[in-house]
Amino acid sequence: MDTNRPALPPEIARRRTFAIISHPDAGKTTLTEKFLLYGGAIQLAGQVRAKGEARRTRSDFMQMEKDRGISVSASAMSFDYKDFRFNLVDTPGHSDFSEDTYRTLTAVDAAVMVIDGAKGVESQTRKLFEVCRLRDLPILTFCNKMDRESRDTFEIVDEIQESLAIDVTPASWPIGIGADFVGVYDMLNGQVVLMDRADRNVVAERITVGIDDDALADHVPAHLIGTLREEVEMARELLPPLDPQAVLDGTMTPIWFGSAINSFGVAELMEGIGALAPEPQPQAAEPRQVAPEEPKVAGFVFKVQANMDPKHRDRVAFLRLASGHFTRGQKLTHVRTKKPMAVSNPVLFLASDRELADEAWAGDIIGIPNHGQLRIGDTLTEGEAIRVTGIPSFAPELLQNCRAGDPLKAKHLEKALMQFAEEGAAKVFKPAIGSGFVVGVVGALQFDVLASRIEGEYGLPVRFEPSQFTSARWITGPKAAVEAFAERNKGHLAHDNDGDLVYLTRLQWDIDRIERDHPELTLSATKEMM
Ligand code: G4P
Repeated sequence: MDTNRPALPPEIARRRTFAIISHPDAGKTTLTEKFLLYGGAIQLAGQVRAKGEARRTRSDFMQMEKDRGISVSASAMSFDYKDFRFNLVDTPGHSDFSEDTYRTLTAVDAAVMVIDGAKGVESQTRKLFEVCRLRDLPILTFCNKMDRESRDTFEIVDEIQESLAIDVTPASWPIGIGADFVGVYDMLNGQVVLMDRADRNVVAERITVGIDDDALADHVPAHLIGTLREEVEMARELLPPLDPQAVLDGTMTPIWFGSAINSFGVAELMEGIGALAPEPQPQAAEPRQVAPEEPKVAGFVFKVQANMDPKHRDRVAFLRLASGHFTRGQKLTHVRTKKPMAVSNPVLFLASDRELADEAWAGDIIGIPNHGQLRIGDTLTEGEAIRVTGIPSFAPELLQNCRAGDPLKAKHLEKALMQFAEEGAAKVFKPAIGSGFVVGVVGALQFDVLASRIEGEYGLPVRFEPSQFTSARWITGPKAAVEAFAERNKGHLAHDNDGDLVYLTRLQWDIDRIERDHPELTLSATKEMM
């Protein structure tokens, strides 16, 4: 991460835009709720979940989320803490994760990795971590559930270092574990912070004492004091000290210990995000990078969510502002179509509810209701033809044929599928020969989600059936060569929802053969959204 950047305007410099990555059940929802509680966005913990329930009853899709206990949809939330404005972008956390998750991580400048103290680094955390690493995202770690029987602290730190190949520096050190857990030693500020188990749903008063203070004995059982002093000394000797630049470079993660449900360790983590996570960063784009301090507004769509309210067929495009100071009603240029667009009703996702945004700065995420003009990967600017790059579209790993239960409803089905394709929820391929559609997803659960949404939102029962194909590759190359190839391979060809040509097959061997026989063609497993 470049440290020689100019000072940002204070409004931008105070922004921290991040996502939480974790394995299901580690405590992401609970921690989010506590962030909002500390950020003053809600008065009582429990509201996020309660609100979630109310929203979930609105459609079958949401019903399914509820049944499966997963959060399929994602959104963004803003709240203030001390001098900072936090923008928390929610990543879908279920194990069958989709491109949404990857794209979400293109819209943030840092990630908070939540792990369960008893379980350590789990599979989903590892996958998400790898995506963060691809982008060199700074990662701050919260080790949760220390009020339960957890692993030994050194063991947890070792496991993260070894399995993720990242340096870990303790920002805090737990005092006692499980039923004995009484608090942490704040290694950054040199004080013991004690947990108040009295009321977990309000912002707890912090009781602080020095580690060598006699008063420590009033709060911490004698046998824990000895262990704490020993462990802290060992940690200082054995583990690397905090290096803020290494954190920004993504090669070191500071770790805080706590218990989200008891609101413990949350304030320290939030302060850590403020102090150690980066300000809004420059955005890769063509033909030039966009810097946050640029006075003109530029932003990109990283997510589209349709039918947030089934009564209106509205879609909300989530725009990450890459630069400038946006004000409501501002006219921007939709770079892909070169059309002007007055953004008159942008939404800022305050935790309490969707709220109209009067202004937003680089780093913020705003929702723009629209009727389908805005697609993932689109850039909005004040006129300059800039295109943000690096928002990937992956070849789906699973393909199935999709048919309407009622064959007369094929047109309706096409409309529904196209919409989900634009939303980024699936890849939809229309084969060059025959009718019907081949739908591709990254995780199997997404077929259920789609079937349930198509029925819930369009009143259209559908069937997904095994497809003869298992892989899809986008084909590019000189026009004549692509056309000649297409002519000879009709049975394998399809067009995606953008009209781009795709080769479908069930054999990796086929792909290898084409690459060997047709060096002029490129078969690609990813396609950049534009
Ligand atoms: P997720 O979003 O990462 O999937 O996790 P979530 O916050 O929903 O937490 C998963 C479970 O872990 C919840 O219990 C939650 O109450 C519990 N939990 C979260 N933080 C802590 C903690 O610090 N200590 C302990 N002991 N438990 C914690 P649940 O029984 O699945 O749900 P609920 O009935 O409590 O809502």
